[in-house]
Amino acid sequence: MIINSRMRACFGVKTQQLISRVFRHPVHPSAAVQWRLAQSRLLSAGESKPRPSMLKHLTFKIKATGPITVAEYMREVLTNPVTGYYVRNNMLGPDGDFITSPEISQIFGELLGVWILSEWMGAGRPKHLQLVELGPGKGSLASDILRVFSQLKSVLDGCSVSLHLVEVSPALSAVQAQTLTGGSSVESSSEDDPVFRRGETSAGLPVFWYRCLEDVPAGFSIFIAHEFFDALPIHTFQRTPKGWREVLVDIDPEKQNRLRFVISPSPTPASSSLIQPEERRSHVEVCADGGVLVQQISRRIVEDGGAALIADYGHDGTKTDTFRGFKGHRLHDVLSSPGSADLTADVDFSFLRTMTGGGVACLGPVTQKMFLKNMGIDARMEVLLRNCSDGPTRMQLIRSYDMLVNPEKMGERFLFFSLLHHSRLAKPKKTEGMKLEDKKPAPLPVGGFTEISLS
Ligand SMILES: C[S@@+](CC[C@H](N)C(=O)[O-])C[C@H]1O[C@@H](n2cnc3c(N)ncnc32)[C@H](O)[C@@H]1O
Repeated sequence: MIINSRMRACFGVKTQQLISRVFRHPVHPSAAVQWRLAQSRLLSAGESKPRPSMLKHLTFKIKATGPITVAEYMREVLTNPVTGYYVRNNMLGPDGDFITSPEISQIFGELLGVWILSEWMGAGRPKHLQLVELGPGKGSLASDILRVFSQLKSVLDGCSVSLHLVEVSPALSAVQAQTLTGGSSVESSSEDDPVFRRGETSAGLPVFWYRCLEDVPAGFSIFIAHEFFDALPIHTFQRTPKGWREVLVDIDPEKQNRLRFVISPSPTPASSSLIQPEERRSHVEVCADGGVLVQQISRRIVEDGGAALIADYGHDGTKTDTFRGFKGHRLHDVLSSPGSADLTADVDFSFLRTMTGGGVACLGPVTQKMFLKNMGIDARMEVLLRNCSDGPTRMQLIRSYDMLVNPEKMGERFLFFSLLHHSRLAKPKKTEGMKLEDKKPAPLPVGGFTEISLS
């Protein structure tokens, strides 16, 4: 889509109003920074139970059924209900294995909050707004977004807002509940209940937790997925003289307690169905689960209205080998001590775009730096710094800002991608003889994907 200058000007006025209203009410920066640090310490202190051996579980499985796909390996390691990395660990934060943008700075979530409101307004201010977050981590992003909602209560006047969290990890859902509902949530007593936990924020917004997206009720929804798609299992394929072959995980015959990669000698169901005929690369990763999720989100947007914002490490169909592990903020061999480290693969946004099937409009990917700058991060920083006289906190704010937008850090490695209902971008039709006042206004341009002026 080409965004013209008229749309840009229009976006400028509406979003400027939202941004300037949020920025008039800064949360005291030192309080926010200290709260985040305290939370991370609390979480790492809680990990004390001995871990059942994931390696034993995997070697048993491979001995029983033969080598497993990388997707199965990743699924088991990350989300096995008993020993999975996400199910058992509190991994986020300075004392964990990795840190994410919402944990680095409150500004990140605030700007996403403005984006969500701007999309809700662009859709004609529906009476109900479901905010759906996939993989909410510690709940910090949702909490920062909801703070913006309460600052802009009058904008949302008459709209009933609810929060729907899709989370595989019971441990993390408890952390999210603490962050968002102050611990007043209740777990469902029935395994069959699609809502496995429910609660209410201090402002009275209902919060629901689900194991999968299918369980979230239909309705106008804005979907947020930050560092979620990169945690979904990937299949990996190698071009060989005999054609495409799937990479599998097997037991190393030299050392029975070690795993190694092997190439499948014959085609697998995945290698026969997931490679595009026009593929030019010689090594390819395909996240079939991500493709299915994007199809589900697209269908919901088409049927019920809404938008999705997906932010992740990624590429547009160009990279080849991005599967990697992280432990204690360092790269970690993906096959060694499975379950003790995070596993991740860059998101292929061109694949996600293909999987929408054209039912929705796709914007991006654009870099995090561009998205945040377009959303007004510089103006937000100015307000926070103006309200902060404490030297160390100012330094912390500046460091966080640099981490988010510096191209060498997260500024260019993180990408933002959006799915929108086609009507959201439709230009008003010009009809012969139509009076000026009868014309529908041009749609609000989509925040973050185009420049705004705060002058
Ligand atoms: C890398 S963390 C990102 C957390 C958060 N979005 C952030 O940016 O701080 C991935 C999150 O997705 C959840 N998750 C991973 N795989 C999942 C799955 N298949 N279904 C639901 N949640 C999942 C994890 O438990 C965790 O909350």
